[in-house]
Amino acid sequence: MSFNIAVLASGSGSNLQSIIDAVERGSLEAKICLVLCNRSNAFALERAKKAGIPTAIILHSDFENREEFDSAMIEQLQAANVDLVVLAGFMRILTPLFIKTFAGRIVNIHPALLPSFKGAHGIADAVEYGVTLAGCTVHFVDEIMDNGAIIAQAVVPFASDESADTVQKRVLAFEHRVYPQVLQWIANGRVSQNGRKASVQDTGLAKIPSDGSFIVSPQLEDGF
Ligand code: GRF
Repeated sequence: MSFNIAVLASGSGSNLQSIIDAVERGSLEAKICLVLCNRSNAFALERAKKAGIPTAIILHSDFENREEFDSAMIEQLQAANVDLVVLAGFMRILTPLFIKTFAGRIVNIHPALLPSFKGAHGIADAVEYGVTLAGCTVHFVDEIMDNGAIIAQAVVPFASDESADTVQKRVLAFEHRVYPQVLQWIANGRVSQNGRKASVQDTGLAKIPSDGSFIVSPQLEDGF
């Protein structure tokens, strides 16, 4: 029986594309049973159609309130027999009703090292703040925005004179690797959650270079 994932997106859908590609090359053993968008012009819809994936458009503007919008989405997702709801650039806040319906079965990717720089402008906020390490986080979704248990993170160093645009490109490149990998771990039943913490069975720490060094940004000079 296949592991059914539904991807919720509002925009370009480059993360959706990385998930489609991972399924097509056999790295991600799952079926994308539905791509659901809240905007009819989301490019994610084109990507889904090209890959032959069923799509649904549910416009939030057609509903009186968030609960009604979420109920309509729940109906579609349940009809598609979804095992995991994958948020990939979905720009709506979900209600407790939605979160409870799919408790422990919703994941999101955020373009910052949570718990820093929550919200819609993670990268711009990090650049503006002046941190020297950016990154992305895949996490379970709970009722508080960008708060749920963290499953994986990637660190992306950047220079103080880089623009938010170039940093975003490099962070996205990591998102496209980390998100499909996390989905594969979940599809294989290797991710568990215990309160605030998530863990992945049989994985080690990120590879530390053979010289024993670790990431410090900016780079350390010889002698340090
Ligand atoms: C990504 O930066 C993701 O981290 C954030 O929204 C953006 C979606 O990009 N949640 P895309 O639509 O997948 O290209």
